[in-house]
Amino acid sequence: MAKSAKTSHVCGQCGHESAKWLGQCPQCGQWHTMQEVRSVSPVPSSGGSVVPLAQVEQAASRRVLTGWGEVDRILGGGLMPGSFILLGGDPGVGKSTLTLQLGQAGRGLRLLYVAGEESPHQIRQRADRIGVSGDSIRIYNGTEVEGIVRAAREEKPDLLVVDSIQTVFRGELGGLPGSIQQIRESAAVLQQLAKRDGITTLLIGHVNKDGEIAGPRMLEHMVDTVLQFEGDPLRLFRLLRSVKNRFGPAQEVAVFEMTGSGLRQVDNPSELFLSDPGRRTPGRCVTCVMEGTRPILVEVQALVARSGYATPQRMASGFDQRRLSLLLAVLERRCGVNLAGQDVYVGVAGGFRVSDPAADAAVAVAVVSSLWDVAPVDGAVVAAEMGLSGDLRTVASEAQRIQECAKLGFTSYHGGIPRRQESADVGRVAAKRVATVSDLLRAMLGSESAQEPGSSD
Ligand code: TYD
Ligand code: MG
Repeated sequence: MAKSAKTSHVCGQCGHESAKWLGQCPQCGQWHTMQEVRSVSPVPSSGGSVVPLAQVEQAASRRVLTGWGEVDRILGGGLMPGSFILLGGDPGVGKSTLTLQLGQAGRGLRLLYVAGEESPHQIRQRADRIGVSGDSIRIYNGTEVEGIVRAAREEKPDLLVVDSIQTVFRGELGGLPGSIQQIRESAAVLQQLAKRDGITTLLIGHVNKDGEIAGPRMLEHMVDTVLQFEGDPLRLFRLLRSVKNRFGPAQEVAVFEMTGSGLRQVDNPSELFLSDPGRRTPGRCVTCVMEGTRPILVEVQALVARSGYATPQRMASGFDQRRLSLLLAVLERRCGVNLAGQDVYVGVAGGFRVSDPAADAAVAVAVVSSLWDVAPVDGAVVAAEMGLSGDLRTVASEAQRIQECAKLGFTSYHGGIPRRQESADVGRVAAKRVATVSDLLRAMLGSESAQEPGSSD
């Protein structure tokens, strides 16, 4: 029974609300995403009260550790009691597995797991597969929000997991689970449960490009923390990224590997993304990118080949396509590198996606290395942003990057010209300053006339 009959229209992509129906959302520009929503006040309000700030209790800030170092780090030092978290990601990326494993890794972290996506039997099967057992995980077999709230109040778990928000519903509302109306109203009730009863709640939400089903985008405004679980389904590694965090750092990244028995925390991601640091072949260059506060070494690979097309191909994977075009233009105009009639393919080893501008210089080196068929110097890492005039600029957090190079046994770090202070050598790593791309190509590949024949590959 709806309490009020007021209706509005909400965009399933971005959550924009409008009084009348529109074919295209004026906020995000998506077509056919507006759905009619009846406004219902989520839970009868018990009325608020005013207290002086100094009298507000501070006790709630004691964090609950999940026992997974990386997950705790992403959260900003463990779970904040009473926080409301959204874990988004493509279907099949491993969201259910990750949350179920929180019950395993934890030091007695008690989970109440709402089985909306799968039957308790299937969850048991997965738990057996990943070696999670014991009484710390309790399964709630139902999807009506009222029942979930009742069970959570009774059980008082350390963490309530709702898998997924698209499967739960409020009985008094019309519409199917997964509709914008249901997602919004269900989430509002669960939010109150988290805030009023202090029950830390994690919603799992599928990222769905289809506007028909409300995406978790709309939920992002309601929650304290948005975690995104990413990864190419064909690859084994997964990135857990904090996109928003009221209680900790945002844009932090943790790396996991999907194994036959669940997810494994990767403590040294650089090792995962370097294909074979020992092998010298043309068309490869190692760079160091920052993901949040964490430096990760990745290998940029390039292949330059005579084109069979009228318009040569420029293809980038794991790297911005337009950025690649721009870098190639700079190479042609400022460094005299002739790429006319050549197809250029650039990729990042391991399927990693690079957005740090530090990768610019490595892309340039890898491309020219392939063109000239000369392998870059041994043990070198390149990290600098490239300007339109072919100048190289220093990137942020160089000290951490150089540290990471030292940790993995590299011997030189080629960075741009710093605006202020020079970064010092670390251990065996010599920090070198290079002003332009041309200088960098000379340092990494030698001059073209004096090129050594690259090992075949
Ligand atoms: P799942 O957690 O069900 O993904 P989501 O909840 O995000 O939809 O993970 C599904 C994939 O993970 C599935 O393709 C199988 C794979 N997987 C493993 O490779 N190893 C494992 O131990 C488990 C449990 C799953
Ligand atoms: Mg799942």
